[in-house]
Amino acid sequence: MTAKVIDGKAFAATVRAKVAHHVAALKAKGLTPGLAVVLVGEDPASQVYVRNKHASTIEVGMASFEHKLQIDTSEADLLALVESLNADPKVHGILVQLPLPSHLNSELIINTIDPSKDVDGFHISNVGLLGTGQKSMVPCTPLGCLMMLRDHHGKLAGLNAVVVGRSNIVGKPMAQLLLGDSCTVTIAHSRTKDLASVCRSADILVAAVGRPEMITGDMVKSGATVIDVGINRVERDGKSRLVGDVHYASAVEVAGAITPVPGGVGPMTIACLLANTVTACCRANGLAEPEGLTA
Ligand code: GUN
Repeated sequence: MTAKVIDGKAFAATVRAKVAHHVAALKAKGLTPGLAVVLVGEDPASQVYVRNKHASTIEVGMASFEHKLQIDTSEADLLALVESLNADPKVHGILVQLPLPSHLNSELIINTIDPSKDVDGFHISNVGLLGTGQKSMVPCTPLGCLMMLRDHHGKLAGLNAVVVGRSNIVGKPMAQLLLGDSCTVTIAHSRTKDLASVCRSADILVAAVGRPEMITGDMVKSGATVIDVGINRVERDGKSRLVGDVHYASAVEVAGAITPVPGGVGPMTIACLLANTVTACCRANGLAEPEGLTA
């Protein structure tokens, strides 16, 4: 069997089109959803992410507020900026780009964001709301994975899902979302005994460990859906290449469906950030939530 390749780039374009449609409807009511992105320092990868977020935000018709701060910005100054964004009615979503320089307390800064504007879903209140099955802001990457899985499978209830990776940003929220859709969920990680057989029990296998090509085809059940969250840069034949956490060439022969790297989960993350900003704008104004853009 050769797997169906799930085209994340095309799917993200449909999500962005839906977002743009909702933005136009909100603008007709006199409301422009606004996203504020805060970048401290000049980390090259973070600069690329922030530039892409800005361009995508403008493209769907939303307002984009960029705050680029010096690397030696004090915690007090950053907290004051977050407080001012919390109070600004033009700002519906706030994202503080991570990682922050080491002299800044990331947890304190993230937990100072108004939870209703926390479009990353990282605030402790949103983590607790998601964990208890209540309405929350949901982290963008796992939300994107959930959208792709719902699109491919329809209903997910009763399926065995294995999430490899236990990060706060992807693994744990992914597991909560799959539980919310009534999957039987296992969280596996680098210390899991006999990882291969745990993975082979999965109808849905989500790889989010950050280890290049760790999940090989022999670890995949025939016909399973494989979602590869990994983005790893490796040297191959003297060239720099991007590979996932899944060994694509072997897994594609066994899986029923698989996301490629690049062009799978990656494009969904920014699309879901835009979706979360529209959701936050609707909630802030007592309007119905956009359908198909939330968990
Ligand atoms: N750095 C890399 N990915 C992310 C993300 O999704 N959110 C934030 N805030 N920082 C990041």
